[in-house]
Amino acid sequence: MKIFLADAAATRKLGIALGQSLNAGNVILLQGDLGAGKTTLVQGIGFGLGISDPIVSPTFTLINEYMEGRLPLYHLDLYRLEPKQVAALNLETYWEGVEVTPGIVAIEWAERMPYKPDSYLGVRLTYADEATRQAEITPHNCTISEEIASI
Ligand SMILES: Nc1ncnc2c1ncn2[C@@H]1O[C@H](COP(=O)(O)OP(=O)(O)OP(=O)(O)O)[C@@H](O)[C@H]1O
Ligand SMILES: [Mg+2]
Repeated sequence: MKIFLADAAATRKLGIALGQSLNAGNVILLQGDLGAGKTTLVQGIGFGLGISDPIVSPTFTLINEYMEGRLPLYHLDLYRLEPKQVAALNLETYWEGVEVTPGIVAIEWAERMPYKPDSYLGVRLTYADEATRQAEITPHNCTISEEIASI
């Protein structure tokens, strides 16, 4: 499904709806150019989960973990990594949720992943112009909640 995002607030709102409706173990793989709005969307997800800590880009820290919301949020940014380095991170630890508390896993620059989870929500953000974006949401072996489908 494709969603037109008129401004950053619309992208945030989509994230909030996701944050309110996602379940433990759900993975969101975000793709899109620099500045496409991936972090903005994850900020909405954090708000929707009830996280009051500011969600900041993990471009340098690789991963930020927020444990105070309805579910933990694991926010990753693979921009600076090669697929080989990504493989060495054993990211499945996050979506298997055995060694970590099961939560929402949101990964920016998912293009860098050499392998993906069996089920995930793909979100591709594209530029229309300076202020507008388009989100294309593709479920892989999972369903989109009614709340999202009706946006
Ligand atoms: N419709 C929109 N949706 C999201 N962001 C928008 C929109 N319109 C303008 N913007 C602006 O574009 C920028 C998006 O930045 P953001 O950090 O979310 O991108 P990103 O995809 O995470 O980039 P990076 O690849 O560097 O991590 C913000 O400054 C935001 O205010
Ligand atoms: Mg970002």
